Amino acid sequence: MGRKNRYLVGLDVGTSKVCAIVGELVADNGLDIVGIGVAESRGIRRGVIVNLEAAVDSIKKAVDEAELMAGVEIDAVHLSMAGPHIKGFNSRGVIAVAGKSREITRDDVRRAIEAAKAVSLPAGREILHVLPQDFVVDEQDGIGAPVGMTGARLEVNVHIVTSATTATQNLVSCVNRAGVGVIDTVVEQIGAAEAVLTSDEKELGVALVDIGGGTTDIAIFERGSLWHTAVIGVGGDHFTSDIAVGLRMPIPDAEKLKRKCGCALSAMVDEDETIDVASVGGRRSRVMARRILSEILQPRAEEIFHLVWDEIRRAGYEKSLNSGIVLTGGGAILEGMPEIAEQIFDLPIRRGAPTGIGGLADHVGSPAFATAVGLVLYGQRHQVVEAVRSSGAGAFGRVAGRLKGLFREFF
Ligand SMILES: Nc1ncnc2c1ncn2[C@@H]1O[C@H](COP(=O)(O)OP(=O)(O)O)[C@@H](O)[C@H]1O
Ligand SMILES: [Mg+2]
Repeated sequence: MGRKNRYLVGLDVGTSKVCAIVGELVADNGLDIVGIGVAESRGIRRGVIVNLEAAVDSIKKAVDEAELMAGVEIDAVHLSMAGPHIKGFNSRGVIAVAGKSREITRDDVRRAIEAAKAVSLPAGREILHVLPQDFVVDEQDGIGAPVGMTGARLEVNVHIVTSATTATQNLVSCVNRAGVGVIDTVVEQIGAAEAVLTSDEKELGVALVDIGGGTTDIAIFERGSLWHTAVIGVGGDHFTSDIAVGLRMPIPDAEKLKRKCGCALSAMVDEDETIDVASVGGRRSRVMARRILSEILQPRAEEIFHLVWDEIRRAGYEKSLNSGIVLTGGGAILEGMPEIAEQIFDLPIRRGAPTGIGGLADHVGSPAFATAVGLVLYGQRHQVVEAVRSSGAGAFGRVAGRLKGLFREFF
């Protein structure tokens, strides 16, 4: 492996922070984190660029810091995509099996997926992911790996994720202006899922809920595949502004207070417990009951989780979540979030932080780094497929760039 190929970089451009993470591929398919760069996110609102110059600066800062720490130059990254313009839906492709013997080949699978992709998109939208869920051979459904089976008709069910073309282009050109290329764009939940979900959870049924600064992103997995994605326009920053309004303090103070003393479930807070609240405008600091702070936070947590539950129900997966719900993103760090979620969903709930990595793993072992680390893991999986392809073991010819990583499970 060349020196360059040993490194993979994830770049997560969020509403709150821009994070670049350098991973080094090590023996036995392992991955060490060797560089981390974090910058405050400016010029980006809910995944969309609102100020180009400011966004480029933030990206540059994060990339420079990660380069310095890792001691390598970053050429290209796996980039996260997020925001309300991201939409997911399910589609189906059907083809007649080509060979005389009716034995299904990789090429048949590729054609079926191409057929599933042939949906008419509204103007200004493009496909980011086409994720195969399962196959139907003649009348037999629920097939995971159809290659080598015999049949006349092959159907594939896929989950397609699309984005607004201009939003994608603006983000990619910001990254380019910061001097970095983009290998692939990955929807944020799909990135985060790589870092925090186990394959058992994805098999049995799980919802990943990524609570970022401006949005909460949902992804539902079952039988090992992605079935539903959605974005809710409420996130962690809403808790902060609730505190700022409720306790009449500036946003930065409210943010500090939330992180230090906040709790999303007021029943968890002892009635006698008090906190010191920094004063504003030169007044003396005041002491108040911590309960009051949690009473400000709880309704917002309830709102987010009720919206998540509505989305899960509307999509028809409320009975499918046998492994419950995994909370991730910076907003999931708030004390009491899993506990209040458990009351609302009546399902097993856990916090998801990146696992299964080496190197500086301790420094990225927080839910806030799930997407950035997941992008590196996504890239690693992708690269394995590339290696198989270039060694001649793969035979699916010119598969569209973004489809490449998806085939491994099916052969
Ligand atoms: N320790 C913490 N306690 C409570 N909330 C936190 C904590 N750390 C981060 N957050 C919140 O997480 C949100 C940012 O989520 P994150 O996943 O880091 O960012 P992004 O929006 O860039 O995806 C912010 O609203 C922030 O206030
Ligand atoms: Mg995020």
